[in-house]
Amino acid sequence: MQNSNEWENRYQQGQTGWDRGDVSPNLLHWLESELLKPCRILVPGCGNGHEVLALAEKGFEVVAIDIAPTAIENLRNSLKTRQLNAELIQTDFFTWELEKPFDAIYEQTSLCALHPDEWAEYEKCLFNWLKPKGKLFAQFMQTEEESGPPFHCDIPAMIELFVAQRWQWSEQHETEVVHSENLYEKMYFLEKTL
Ligand SMILES: C[S@@+](CC[C@H](N)C(=O)[O-])C[C@H]1O[C@@H](n2cnc3c(N)ncnc32)[C@H](O)[C@@H]1O
Repeated sequence: MQNSNEWENRYQQGQTGWDRGDVSPNLLHWLESELLKPCRILVPGCGNGHEVLALAEKGFEVVAIDIAPTAIENLRNSLKTRQLNAELIQTDFFTWELEKPFDAIYEQTSLCALHPDEWAEYEKCLFNWLKPKGKLFAQFMQTEEESGPPFHCDIPAMIELFVAQRWQWSEQHETEVVHSENLYEKMYFLEKTL
């Protein structure tokens, strides 16, 4: 389990191997296919926020959260440089008090960054942050390793975590996108059933 200082230290020391340095092709796919259309969207664990910038540019109302102050500061500077707007919140998403639920969530490498012992609590957060019928654009990291982070998000385990009573899975949108040499993500589009 990582604490906020560990994440902050990684940003301060430039140890951000997860960061592509650009917007994810997964997000571009969802935008181009119009599965994801401008709406009020949350990006939890946004990091440097390349996807936050892309969403803001496309006219989404974006709220982005991260526990690491440097990540939030970097993103604030990028938004300013590109004259874009998004609401940035530096906080622990497990204790964050939601004011207004979201139409959609873009989940990119936040789940896999958490220890599996925290996944059930994170799933509850994702569920509660969304409006009824809200959409979760999820990417499940595939490492085939037992240790982490990033932790392997085995699809059968994800189906148990995001249970059918609470989430409708849309398998027709599954694709795989390479993340780095040994890692890739499977992307799924889930809808809150209630
Ligand atoms: C692997 S990084 C991914 C960052 C970004 N999504 C990306 O793909 O570049 C995980 C991010 O989650 C943030 N994070 C971890 N635990 C968190 C928590 N409890 N609340 C908010 N953010 C958290 C970290 O600071 C880090 O920026």
